[in-house]
Amino acid sequence: MHKISLKINGKDYQDEVEPRLLLVHYLRDKAHLTGTHVGCDTGNCGACTIFLNGKPIKSCNMLAVQANGAELTTIEGLAKGGLHPIQEAFLDKFGIQCGYCTPGMVISALALLQSNPKPTEEEIREAIEGNICMCTGYQQIVDSIAHAAHLMGQSRS
Ligand code: FES
Ligand code: FES
Repeated sequence: MHKISLKINGKDYQDEVEPRLLLVHYLRDKAHLTGTHVGCDTGNCGACTIFLNGKPIKSCNMLAVQANGAELTTIEGLAKGGLHPIQEAFLDKFGIQCGYCTPGMVISALALLQSNPKPTEEEIREAIEGNICMCTGYQQIVDSIAHAAHLMGQSRS
């Protein structure tokens, strides 16, 4: 077993984990943050996307021990005193169908909007190309992210 220390959504976590434990399974099973989903376990679907030290990563592509000392943000860390504007936008524009891909989509959308607050439709589609929606509602998801850009722009002005 290996000792790890992490900061997740601003809270400190210390644990002993097996060296082969994937970060996504640590988040869900040990830290009980089940908003991060597992769709494939092989880095293809994006359901497990989180921020690690400010960058979006697929948490099934990393071992928990490799994240030792890192700061993570999961979907649970986005809502502060109400839903995050991206979450509001997904509700408003029907970007959520079964919801399985949604946490990963929202994290990828936030990563995009942090670096590009006014993305084109093409840029939005590129930003979510690593996220698969099995319900295939991509147009509503793209519309949701465009709407989120608008909402976040309004809150800045
Ligand atoms: Fe990580 Fe699918 S569960 S990419
Ligand atoms: Fe069902 Fe995307 S909303 S998988």
